[in-house]
Amino acid sequence: MTWSVGAGLEGKGVIVTGAAGGIGKAVATAFSATGARVMAVDLDQARVTEVVAGFEGSGHLAVAADLSDLSAHAGLVTQAREAFGNLYVLANLAAVLRRRGSIDEVTEDDWDFQHDINLKAAFFLCRTAGDAMIEQGKGGRIITFSSQGWWTGGFGGSVAYAATKGGVTSMTRGLARTYGPHRITVNAVSPGQVHTPMLMTGLSPEVYESMKKQTPLGYVAEPEEVAGPVVFLASDHAKYITGSTINVSGGFLMY
Ligand SMILES: NC(=O)c1ccc[n+]([C@@H]2O[C@H](COP(=O)([O-])OP(=O)(O)OC[C@H]3O[C@@H](n4cnc5c(N)ncnc54)[C@H](O)[C@@H]3O)[C@@H](O)[C@H]2O)c1
Repeated sequence: MTWSVGAGLEGKGVIVTGAAGGIGKAVATAFSATGARVMAVDLDQARVTEVVAGFEGSGHLAVAADLSDLSAHAGLVTQAREAFGNLYVLANLAAVLRRRGSIDEVTEDDWDFQHDINLKAAFFLCRTAGDAMIEQGKGGRIITFSSQGWWTGGFGGSVAYAATKGGVTSMTRGLARTYGPHRITVNAVSPGQVHTPMLMTGLSPEVYESMKKQTPLGYVAEPEEVAGPVVFLASDHAKYITGSTINVSGGFLMY
């Protein structure tokens, strides 16, 4: 085994969803630096094209897709396999958060909107990617995105969102059991507070300050600080890790 960050990823096909978002952009850019070929997927073509323009290397793809439309998933996976010759990694970051000050304000639409993208689309995209990896017969890596809310139940009006992330954590474990015999690892990354549009939307300055105080490292992470663990999980160095939830929270929670 070559000892380097991103070992084993050179020439591999990678899909990153939510790639125009705060953490997704950092993750997708980090994958491009390993020599992998990256398909960046997000809602808006202009935003995703801009992200890919900042990548290292060539041969990457910028694709606009609404992942809540499950019928789009097969086409994305096929496009990646055809363009890259293989699909080795799915890093699924696309998610939405609607904060509500009181649970009485949570509407059925709020519940469905967050579950449809964060959990339902995540499951079906992971399964579509997993099927392709099984067919290829060369193993693979699926990395899901949870949140500390899977453990805490959520702060700052995010009970429904936290429920989706609890689902993502459980789903990740189930998929790890399902795909293990095919040498496909499935792990969740669970960020703490990361400085992105999602964190800041509807967040009061008081809650933001108290988050910093409760974090032993004393600050809110920048997106690049989450990209390293994702690339590690996709690398050869992490080949015996599956079903884990990797806590990247600056010590906010310890487990
Ligand atoms: N920022 C944090 O503090 C934090 C903490 C814990 C977990 N997370 C998780 O990390 C991941 C990335 O979060 P972020 O902070 O970068 O958020 P973000 O809002 O910056 O990015 C999320 C991206 O997902 C995309 N997206 C939403 N719905 C989509 C759909 N239907 N189809 C395709 N793309 C869609 C959005 O357009 C956006 O670009 C998410 O899974 C989030 O739940 C973030």
